[in-house]
Amino acid sequence: MYCLELAGDEDAFAACEAATAASAVEIVAPGVATARGIAADRVRNLAYTHAASELVATTAADIDAAELALEAATVDRAGSIAVRARDIRSQTGCSTRTAERRLGSVLVDRGFSVDLDDPDHELRVLFSEGEVDGEKRDVCLLGWLAAESKRDYGDRRPTDRPFFQPGSMAPLDARALVNIAGAGPDTRVVDPMCGTGGLLLEAALVGSSVLGVDAQWKMTRGSRENLTALVGDANFEIVHGDATALPVVDDSADAVVFDAPYGRQSKVARHELADLVGGALAEARRIADRAVVVADRPWEKEARNAEWTVDHRFERRVHGTLVRHVHVLSG
Ligand SMILES: C[S@@+](CC[C@H](N)C(=O)[O-])C[C@H]1O[C@@H](n2cnc3c(N)ncnc32)[C@H](O)[C@@H]1O
Repeated sequence: MYCLELAGDEDAFAACEAATAASAVEIVAPGVATARGIAADRVRNLAYTHAASELVATTAADIDAAELALEAATVDRAGSIAVRARDIRSQTGCSTRTAERRLGSVLVDRGFSVDLDDPDHELRVLFSEGEVDGEKRDVCLLGWLAAESKRDYGDRRPTDRPFFQPGSMAPLDARALVNIAGAGPDTRVVDPMCGTGGLLLEAALVGSSVLGVDAQWKMTRGSRENLTALVGDANFEIVHGDATALPVVDDSADAVVFDAPYGRQSKVARHELADLVGGALAEARRIADRAVVVADRPWEKEARNAEWTVDHRFERRVHGTLVRHVHVLSG
């Protein structure tokens, strides 16, 4: 068993992404989940999971209980250790310093040396308290760190790219969306409304070959510039075209992911927005069995009309007036 440290404050969304890198993911308390197994190389690419650790013990959110549980646990490791504790979302009031000192002493008594800079093994101690699905939870999970996600999103802010337009998606969100869509090595991902290429960029960075389409020439030129600058020789193609009539053959992609235009009408595409999104959903269904569609409103009826099953719809607040609806679709 593993424990996962979720990022952000929407655990259901984070767990949905984590499920692409771990099996049987279950939220056990705010910000923490358990999983039966993990694919460590995929955990490294997750946006909304910080780390996965091999579970040693589960107790109540209490340092005495955590200390007793560690004393009783079998530890089949040797070498140096560090203990890192977190009071997730600062809800339990447990002192992380005290927890680190006391649990560290338990391990020293068992023959481990302490190395805070470069330990052979790192014990994560996660205290969390709060509600999950209306039920009160109060846990401490102890686990040996197995994989951490790479947090390099600040290196590729949309405003620092060669081509920027307002509305470019933040790389952290784009990464989560392409992961949920199933991006990764040996997959082909299509964004039929690629804009500045934010989704394509993240899909290419996790190893997908990507195709971007946009109805505006300046977007196709700009996203090509961005991909060239940030992923270099990765396998990408950008073409000018219409999301409702994609220049690709049936069943030629593993996933489609797009961020539909916001507002009552699409200014650029000469379609009413509903026709545009409906048409794009139908085209997506023609070429792939999985899609993740982001919009400023729910498009569930249109997705079903296009013969998609809506597996999830998440509402994510971006700022005061904008809520992003994330539809996770399967064929
Ligand atoms: C919300 S933006 C996408 C933003 C993008 N995810 C990014 O990070 O920059 C929507 C895009 O859809 C494009 N678009 C609108 N109608 C289209 C159509 N019929 N076919 C293809 N692209 C279209 C617009 O030009 C715009 O770039």
